Amino acid sequence: MAYETIEIETHGRVGLIRLNRPQALNALNARLIAELDNALGGFDRDADIGCIVLTGSEKAFAAGADIKEMRDKSFVDAFLDDFIGRWDAVARARKPIVAAVGGFALGGGCELAMMCDIVLAADTAQFGQPEIKLGVIPGAGGTQRLTRAVGKAKAMDLVLTGRMMGAEEAERAGLVARVVPAAELVVEALKTAAAIAALSLPAVLIAKEAVNRAFETTLAEGIRQERRLFYALFATEDQKEGMSAFVEKRKAAFANR
Ligand code: HXC
Repeated sequence: MAYETIEIETHGRVGLIRLNRPQALNALNARLIAELDNALGGFDRDADIGCIVLTGSEKAFAAGADIKEMRDKSFVDAFLDDFIGRWDAVARARKPIVAAVGGFALGGGCELAMMCDIVLAADTAQFGQPEIKLGVIPGAGGTQRLTRAVGKAKAMDLVLTGRMMGAEEAERAGLVARVVPAAELVVEALKTAAAIAALSLPAVLIAKEAVNRAFETTLAEGIRQERRLFYALFATEDQKEGMSAFVEKRKAAFANR
């Protein structure tokens, strides 16, 4: 697939996807979502990739779903086509995705970041769910993932007023893992992703799956599943290598990366 709205690169075992519709602040149109789906699927299936970074430009991670493309849709168009269903590729990826967010992450852009596993924000980042100002509500998980990330009080504030929240506030609220200077954003994201990609891939995939279970099940069931997954990892050679390396005071060389 020839990409028009994204760019991809590989940095060792890290796959980088850069959203690239500068004229529309990376607004997420059907073409971009199809390309993102294709690129993510490619990296997710590629045995030489252990972690993925998703970023935008300095001005915008993504300013939301493409309003010009959505404006004239009828209910029946939207319902039958179920265009938001095609956004699920990001949430479905098995490998970890680090979102490197600079500038605007609004509406679907904020929702896209929240589908990722670790959100790094530039000090310039602005998060928000401004859909209410367009006469609609968030449609790609904003009312759900944002509420789980920051709690009801702040989620209601953001969703009902449509105001933007800066990087520091987003970090305090728990939406963002770390804030870094804008100039260092992509380098920091690549560094984080490279560190993850050097670890045991089965352990990394299982860790991601286990954390995500916390959002979908009860505490007792989540803990039962975590314990089963923990025991299962003793079937991997990477567990023997990781623990032997610690005991022998050397760096682990994982076979399954
Ligand atoms: C289509 C968009 C866009 C969007 C910006 N642009 N956001 N086009 N859809 N979401 C376009 C503008 O029309 C303009 O193109 C160009 O990008 C630059 O934008 P400006 O507004 O001139 O830039 P600026 O003054 O810096 O303001 C930046 C901004 C503003 C605050 C981010 O653009 C803005 O409010 N954008 C909309 C944000 C939003 O409402 N997002 C939620 C969308 S709904 P032209 O050609 O005019 O120069 C949504 C629902 C998700 O995401 C549900 C799942 C599908």
